[in-house]
Amino acid sequence: METIVLITGGSSGIGAATAVLLANSGMKVYAGSRRGTSPVTHKGIVPITLDVNDEEALKAAVDKIVAEEGRLDAVICNAGNGIYGPVEYTSEKDARAQFETCFFGSLKTIHACLPVFRAQGHGRIITITSVMAVLQLPFQVYYSSAKAALLALTEGLRMELKGTGIQCCSILPGDVATEFTQVRKNTAPDGTPYDARIRKNLQKIEKDELGGMKPEVIGKAVLKQLRKKKMSVRVIPRIDYKAVGLLTRILPESWKLALINSLYS
Ligand SMILES: NC(=O)c1ccc[n+]([C@@H]2O[C@H](COP(=O)([O-])OP(=O)(O)OC[C@H]3O[C@@H](n4cnc5c(N)ncnc54)[C@H](OP(=O)(O)O)[C@@H]3O)[C@@H](O)[C@H]2O)c1
Repeated sequence: METIVLITGGSSGIGAATAVLLANSGMKVYAGSRRGTSPVTHKGIVPITLDVNDEEALKAAVDKIVAEEGRLDAVICNAGNGIYGPVEYTSEKDARAQFETCFFGSLKTIHACLPVFRAQGHGRIITITSVMAVLQLPFQVYYSSAKAALLALTEGLRMELKGTGIQCCSILPGDVATEFTQVRKNTAPDGTPYDARIRKNLQKIEKDELGGMKPEVIGKAVLKQLRKKKMSVRVIPRIDYKAVGLLTRILPESWKLALINSLYS
């Protein structure tokens, strides 16, 4: 039987590449985004217009899928964006907006799907977080915090849903070359005491992202989890980022922060 999947953030980057990989493997993918487009035309991909901050739009999308397919097997909470700037000079409004999309947007998406999953007795929830959920970088603290919160939500929910047939998994990408870098909002005004460090930091993160993994690497990790009988808890794609994830667990915190600070600011 065809697997029916809803992915948010399907109009570009990781979401678009994942939609293509899943559709090529025989799944039917509803790809939601504010643009409501897919960069490729594929009979297995149905673009849907939705904003993950809009509960009504999410519910309408899930209702449409269930009306057309009779079920929904999996949701990939991928929509997201980043802000950039020092904590001291970033407004609370900008910080809240970061959480709205990256944390509450995924929460709203999960809430829209859970009643269907529970009624069916099965469903898979995959959140796309980031290695920055476990490794905080200076000047991207709100992004890290929102992704850390989403990782905690995914893992807590996995425990709560034990025995329901609903599984949860988070995928933590490292640097991926997508529109994410261009779309990132800079919240730092010029002329703060951080200017020189911010310039060094921005150069490094933009170089790392633009030279980063192809989004298909993350799509393959999603596909692998959807095919597994029991999904993993956390997946960090690619060996070098896995090693980074391991280091965050074994290094003393003070060493870890000193190392990151020397590399990034
Ligand atoms: N690129 C990286 O290095 C990297 C690393 C780790 C994690 N990630 C995470 O991976 C996910 C995908 O990012 P990406 O790299 O593929 O960036 P991207 O190319 O900018 O894609 C972001 C996607 O999210 C959608 N989106 C943003 N806000 C939305 C909203 N309010 N409602 C619905 N859709 C929304 C965008 O579509 P519309 O603009 O059409 O709405 C777009 O399809 C994000 O959660 C990001 O945090 C990225």
